[in-house]
Amino acid sequence: MRLVLLGAPGAGKGTQAARLAEELGIPHVATGDIFRAALKEGTPLGLQAKAYMERGELVPDQVVVAIVRERLAGADADEFILDGFPRTLPQAEALDATLSQLGRPLDEVVAIQVSRRALVERLTARRVCAGCGATYHLLYARPAEEGRCDRCGQTLVQRSDDTLETVERRLDVYEKDTLPLIDYYRKRGLLREVPGEGTVEEVTTSIRGQ
Ligand code: AP5
Ligand code: MG
Ligand code: ZN
Repeated sequence: MRLVLLGAPGAGKGTQAARLAEELGIPHVATGDIFRAALKEGTPLGLQAKAYMERGELVPDQVVVAIVRERLAGADADEFILDGFPRTLPQAEALDATLSQLGRPLDEVVAIQVSRRALVERLTARRVCAGCGATYHLLYARPAEEGRCDRCGQTLVQRSDDTLETVERRLDVYEKDTLPLIDYYRKRGLLREVPGEGTVEEVTTSIRGQ
């Protein structure tokens, strides 16, 4: 399975990709996670991405494309789930070129549909584990013990780009730069749209297509 999960910030790409990747035993490639890990380690890539991420803007295409190209050329990436990439037409075109060079074409692009109001509610009340990155929500995905990760016991924090102002900016950027990819993949016969406002389990079932 070579799958792209497309969807606005907060649509549930990370939540769903983590579940499906574990179930299928294939890599979950998330560009946002790659940037946050680089930032935590203080690498040049992290420093380069920091200002864009904090403003809710996109990191330049050539930076993102180079990282994804390297990751998808890896021996373990014959199958994969992409989360948060591509996000612009040039990124989608670069992905096509890379995958055709590798002889690993996409099977499907699943677009997760969630209303803007629900996206804002999900993002502003999201919490993430400072240790392992696991995702929670103050109402919909609560940890067993408040403020503490079920998986590793570390503290839950708010992502710095989950403030209301930056969330609004990210949603605007999505509508302008990423939404055109829906048509791009529809024209190629790869697109499947699924409703994203059921429970986490219901959305997983829709993505599986069963
Ligand atoms: P990235 O990390 O990719 O963020 P994003 O696209 O804004 O998406 P999110 O991670 O915020 O949302 P998600 O869809 O994963 O939702 P989640 O599952 O967490 O990118 C961050 C930044 O990095 C970008 O702004 C940009 O600067 C840079 N970047 C990354 N990729 C780039 C690229 N390709 N090009 C350029 N720049 C790039 O769920 C959200 C919340 O909802 C959680 O609290 C969760 O528990 C809850 N939830 C999930 N599912 C449900 C459900 N069914 N019901 C109720 N609650 C739910
Ligand atoms: Mg995510
Ligand atoms: Zn954790």
